[in-house]
Amino acid sequence: MIMSIYLYFLFISLLVLIIFKKLLPSKRKLPPGPTGLPIIGNLHQIGGLLHSTLHKLSLEHGPVMLLRFGVVPMVVFSSKETAKEALKTHDLETCNRPKLVGNGLFTHNFKDIGFTQYGEEWREMKKLVGLELFSPQKQKSFRYIREEEGDLLVKEISKSAQTQTLVDLRKALYSFAAGVILRLAFGQNFHECDFIDMDRVEVLVQEAETSVCALAFTDFFPTGLGWLVDRISGQHSRMNKAFSRLTSFFQHVIDEHKKAGQTQDRSDLVSAMLDMINRPTKSGVTTMIWTMTELTRHPRIMNKLQEEIRTKLGSNKERITEEDLEKVEYMKLVIKESFRLHPPAPLLLPRQTMSEIEVHGYTIPKNSMIKINTYAIGRDPKCWTKAEEFIPERFSDTSINFKGQHFELLPFGAGRRSCPGMALGMANLELGLLNLLYFFDWSLPNGMAIEDIDMDEAGDLNIAKKVPLELVPTLHHW
Ligand code: HEM
Repeated sequence: MIMSIYLYFLFISLLVLIIFKKLLPSKRKLPPGPTGLPIIGNLHQIGGLLHSTLHKLSLEHGPVMLLRFGVVPMVVFSSKETAKEALKTHDLETCNRPKLVGNGLFTHNFKDIGFTQYGEEWREMKKLVGLELFSPQKQKSFRYIREEEGDLLVKEISKSAQTQTLVDLRKALYSFAAGVILRLAFGQNFHECDFIDMDRVEVLVQEAETSVCALAFTDFFPTGLGWLVDRISGQHSRMNKAFSRLTSFFQHVIDEHKKAGQTQDRSDLVSAMLDMINRPTKSGVTTMIWTMTELTRHPRIMNKLQEEIRTKLGSNKERITEEDLEKVEYMKLVIKESFRLHPPAPLLLPRQTMSEIEVHGYTIPKNSMIKINTYAIGRDPKCWTKAEEFIPERFSDTSINFKGQHFELLPFGAGRRSCPGMALGMANLELGLLNLLYFFDWSLPNGMAIEDIDMDEAGDLNIAKKVPLELVPTLHHW
């Protein structure tokens, strides 16, 4: 009898507890954010460049901000502290990638290491990339390719120096960077192939990037509605046309490649090519151009840097080698400053929470899309004095690096999904810049003043300088 009364009380107490838990206000505190509209959420507030729109919104709503893109919650982190919590404390919970329509199409159903879901397949790919791209033997052969491509870059620019004509730095540097990457992927020199036109490669890659990053309505609305809007707006057809143009171009390259006696599995090669020439090439070129732009705008820094380079490397060198990269300390500060103000991928690659987490006292629901706004962090006056100014010396007495340990500077991301190509990317970037700055002096075209340099940005994943940087090179004489 006593036992059954006891069980009865236990049951009633449990019931009361459950009811109370339901009635009491939940401890979950969602982050603040701009008020959205029914159905579309905050999509109407997102115009222009996403990183800069989100930066402005974060100044009003704080370093953890919740938006809704259709039915998908998107949380934006815009401070060093919140980025650290998201990418370090909760690395395991935030290292998934969302399955977006454009990514799926261009990566042969998420076969690309950068867009595949976190799990066994990703770990396998990561191992393979480590072996294929970053083994000591590969590094050695890369070094030779890079130096040779550096020579070609200098040769091309020397022609313009002789006639004192303008060089479009994006074109010259794209040819250098894509030349290196394509040779790494195929072991073949593409400057000598009639069927490869670097300008065309660049246009196709740009189209692919726009499609991969474009916000398709299918990503944010329940299947039927998004599907319909993407078809009416032409988004679906644009993506598919760009994909088919790129695939047939690669097919052509592969056919030619096979004629040259090499046989490889087609689909792997197509994915590998896209992956190899797209993200890595563009990020490196973007940073070289922003750096040259800032140097042109700041003659004091340009002079100091060229003096360091020429003093440390000595006069009349015929070729820049990788040993030279270690000698130029000031250039490393200049590149850090360039990454701070112009991170090539300001929102990193999109991530998704695998479970509910808490950041800065706020609850971030499971399956939220996550954006780390490194652009906002790079301009945060709480981290940087005179944050808007280009001052490389700010790094001279600090240990801040860009390897993912200092959350105020994250050009390569941090944690499990950070960039595995950082060393390779840095070597390309430093060698490219060193060649430009050792051999040539640079000036603006006649009639153009420093104040006329346009600093507008453009792009989707990689944010580049909108208006081409065109400068006149003069061969330096010692
Ligand atoms: C200056 C040059 C480069 C920059 C600034 C850069 C930047 C980035 C960034 C921001 C991410 C996303 C990180 C995140 O979500 O936390 C990323 C991912 C990635 N990068 Fe790079 N990158 C560069 C060069 C390269 C190179 C040369 C390669 C390979 C040859 C490469 C391969 C990758 C891959 C495979 C991923 C995806 C990693 C994953 O999802 O697991 N990158 N990169």
